[in-house]
Amino acid sequence: MNSPPLYRQLANHYLDAIRSGTLKTGERFPSIRLMMEKHAVSLSTAVQVCRELEGQGVLEARPRSGNFIRQPDKPQKSPTVMTPPKVDSGVYVGIHEQVSSVLKASQQASIKVNFSSAYCAPELYPLKILQNHMAKALRTDQHLLGTPGSACGNPALRQVLARRALASKANLPAERIVITNGATEAINLALRAVTQPGDTVAVESPTFYGLLQILESLNLRVLEVPTTAHSGLNLLALEQLLSGPEPIRAMIVIPNLQNPLGSIMPDTHKARLVELCDEHGTVLIEDDTYGDLVDTELPLSTLKHWDRHDNLIYCASLNKTLAPGIRLGWISAGRWHERVEMLKHTQTRGCEAMSQLAVSAFMKTASYERYLRRLRKTLTEQRQQMSTAILRYFPAGTRVTEPRGGTLLWVELPRSLSAMTLFHDALKVGIQITPGDIFSNAKRFGHCVRIGCGTPFSPRIDEALKTLGQLLANQG
Ligand SMILES: Cc1ncc(COP(=O)(O)O)c(C=O)c1O
Repeated sequence: MNSPPLYRQLANHYLDAIRSGTLKTGERFPSIRLMMEKHAVSLSTAVQVCRELEGQGVLEARPRSGNFIRQPDKPQKSPTVMTPPKVDSGVYVGIHEQVSSVLKASQQASIKVNFSSAYCAPELYPLKILQNHMAKALRTDQHLLGTPGSACGNPALRQVLARRALASKANLPAERIVITNGATEAINLALRAVTQPGDTVAVESPTFYGLLQILESLNLRVLEVPTTAHSGLNLLALEQLLSGPEPIRAMIVIPNLQNPLGSIMPDTHKARLVELCDEHGTVLIEDDTYGDLVDTELPLSTLKHWDRHDNLIYCASLNKTLAPGIRLGWISAGRWHERVEMLKHTQTRGCEAMSQLAVSAFMKTASYERYLRRLRKTLTEQRQQMSTAILRYFPAGTRVTEPRGGTLLWVELPRSLSAMTLFHDALKVGIQITPGDIFSNAKRFGHCVRIGCGTPFSPRIDEALKTLGQLLANQG
């Protein structure tokens, strides 16, 4: 079957947003220029989108002011689905000990250069701007600190996030967003909403060790699916696992700028992944922690865009893109929204209001986009400088990923070398790296190292990479 023309696909995308209340009556519709920029479409396509929506009676053109939303339908409410209780006794055992021994060894050492962080250096974040917005929030509402934060989060922030999601072609109505303590809480909530202890959850391999720790803490079994730096999750391998004897209750995927590989799944793979999970009744949990750090102006599409059956839970974070200290993330759990809301309330209650007010005030302004643009450019340069230095100093045969954004490089050493030995040797001279061993329980990444590039390149960083190279040479 032929797919509808691009302008109609986009018009339908915005129609969904109007129907679900993400875009509300009386609000300004995204300008033609913004649509051209965010969806990489021509002027005539963007104009056709507006004509189509005007034709459907939901847009009103006001002379010299732009287009405004006219007639929203009632927000759709999907029914809550409670996970049926299920008894299964097996648990996943293993990764936590290894991860905590690595973290503990790092805490005990005196670190001079830290390559293990996925965050940017503090000076790259808009801290002054956020501090000013915080001060203003406290001045405006003198009772702010004396009032409990609202359960699902600040409405203005939820609205800003919902609007931003439209650019990556995801319709996440503000009413269905819950603000969380980072993506860590969002993923915990998603898993608690849809799984029972003993259930099996599939993950990419390698994947962020924090996800493996969460799974273990919830007594879930883990199945690792091969994933490459080139195109992310291997769909053939996943298909085989889904058709196997072990039912897979959920799958956690980082489709954009995967941690640690930096891979971005092609759109066709994203669409197929959503379809496969639908076919097998596997709940898809999308972790979009790094998507906003892509090098290009054009936003990456999310898996959520292809989620026709509301079978996907979207989790994201502002901790890498905006300010790690405020620990804000969010979840849009679709049909599990009510359950997630209940779990959030029982577990931690609403997040504090001051940071949410400050962040939403900043994210509404054009300077937020300007800030992101600057940050992306800086990170591109830092990754390139670090990569060049690694290839210069590390042993012959070393390979380094070339991610299209983010703060991470994945370094594959010659197989005879040990990342764990390098980790311990480097700590002794005040350098911290992350050994590949902790990104999987499958013992396949003992020759890999994750290097964070969030800190501006300097002679000190160059010297530290040179030292790592020497330590590797000493391994023989
Ligand atoms: C892929 C991924 N998901 C989730 C998290 C946790 O994010 P947060 O700090 O927002 O809890 C991280 C942090 O490094 C991550 O890399």
